[in-house]
Amino acid sequence: MERELALELVRVTEVAALASAPWMGRGNKYRADEAATTAMRAMFDSVSIRGTVVIGEGEMDEAPMLYIGEQVGNMNGPEVDVAVDPLEGTELVAKGLNNALSVIAVANRGNLLHAPDMYMEKLAVGPVLAGRLSLNDPIEITVRKAAEILNKNVSDLTVMILDRPRHQKLIEALRKVGVRIKFLSAGDVAGALAPAFPEAGIDMYVGSGGAPEGVLAAAGLKCLGGELQGRLMPGDSREYDRCLQMGIDDPLKVLTMDDMVGSDDVIFAATGVTPGEFLGGVRYFADHRAETHSIVMRAKTRTIRYVRSLHYLPNKTVLREIEARLTQAKS
Ligand code: FBP
Repeated sequence: MERELALELVRVTEVAALASAPWMGRGNKYRADEAATTAMRAMFDSVSIRGTVVIGEGEMDEAPMLYIGEQVGNMNGPEVDVAVDPLEGTELVAKGLNNALSVIAVANRGNLLHAPDMYMEKLAVGPVLAGRLSLNDPIEITVRKAAEILNKNVSDLTVMILDRPRHQKLIEALRKVGVRIKFLSAGDVAGALAPAFPEAGIDMYVGSGGAPEGVLAAAGLKCLGGELQGRLMPGDSREYDRCLQMGIDDPLKVLTMDDMVGSDDVIFAATGVTPGEFLGGVRYFADHRAETHSIVMRAKTRTIRYVRSLHYLPNKTVLREIEARLTQAKS
């Protein structure tokens, strides 16, 4: 993949973030998601790829666009797998809470795991702990090992986890061993990436979240030198069979980074919609300016670019302006 593609992709996450940001705090996660998805889908038409969506908004019969199997791009570039979440953390935007992102990962064809829509147990860490821990270990052992490697007291270790009743036992174990816990109300792509950003102050991300989000986070962590180990959690025999159909021969095995992202030729881009651990959210300034904070990274070179953009969006709503621009771009 050409390196210029990275900058094309960040424009796609920017536009999706700008489209969903006006919905912050308005209590409607569907409209926030629809706005992001529409803008992202339209912007893809200008991107130089022959892309196939492998992680998207759902199956063809349940999602009008960015569905699994949909072809995206202007068909003038490399053949790639595309994983998207136009709005990761729909509820976060609806409630005006932190950590909502617009996210894309692109890899050469056949290199992103087609993760089924179910939960995945996750252990995500930054570069220092990458390759040193195991999802198979009990959490107490993992935490002690991590503290030793990082040369920290266990009580100085900060672990992030989604605040969910299903995590009650895990949370009790973490409390017993004595770490600090930072809870996320949603948005576990941001949560799993956080340990790879020293400024986030998070040492480890644990617990279960969406499997597609796990693959997106693994792509980001591949660029950052971090690691995510995952284990799918099929809830019944139907979900188990679904894993097999999607080409996962042992649905209960620990998935490594290479299982989820099979190549170093991967690009990851994300734009903050609401402020988060490592990216600012969309902000509106005087004179119709909107600011976005994005990150765009390539695993091949491990370059990490922070892109702060000021968009000029005169009059009316941001969304209408974006729609006008997209129509213009297409004509
Ligand atoms: P949406 O963007 O689809 O609302 O997902 C938000 C999210 O928090 C993901 O980040 C996470 O993987 C998943 O939901 C967790 O699911 P649940 O809310 O069922 O615990």
